[in-house]
Amino acid sequence: MSRLTVTPDTTPGAPELRTEDPAVIAETLARVGVRFERWELPVSVSPDSDNETILAAFRPHLDRLMGESGAGTADVIKLRPGNEAYPSMRKKFIDEHTHTEDEVRFFVSGGGNFILHLDGRVYDAHCSKGDLISVPTGVKHWFDAGEQPNCTVLRVFTDTTGWTPHYTGDPISALFPAA
Ligand SMILES: [Fe+2]
Repeated sequence: MSRLTVTPDTTPGAPELRTEDPAVIAETLARVGVRFERWELPVSVSPDSDNETILAAFRPHLDRLMGESGAGTADVIKLRPGNEAYPSMRKKFIDEHTHTEDEVRFFVSGGGNFILHLDGRVYDAHCSKGDLISVPTGVKHWFDAGEQPNCTVLRVFTDTTGWTPHYTGDPISALFPAA
């Protein structure tokens, strides 16, 4: 189930909005320039399929998205419980940062929280299977898929150097753990 929690950045734990309605999530995020949408999942695809099969299954969606966004390519990342590399990856994701290109992600399975900090508010978007989110260039955010992630995610991008996190040094993410 997708969920959005919006909290003033001065009042951790006291959200002003909490919704599981995908239309309200999309409208609320669109008002601050963040794209969120739900895609219909092809019945044929398993989250454990090989990456080429997954990309082929989503090709019509990806072509449309790339045509609109100008992003050049897509790949697949699978995070599974027990992944030895994940704890160090999680540390990089979980502090507030920005990127030099949009961070576009689609959840083929599982879920995770993209938490955005803009206009004096913290927008915690718990994304789940079927959700697309695009964090715009320069928007402060962090990400958490929990201690034991289990997700298959499409990444849409132009240049992998855009993934480099530019940390803000603001410790705010500790005050707003994934909801
Ligand atoms: Fe990021």
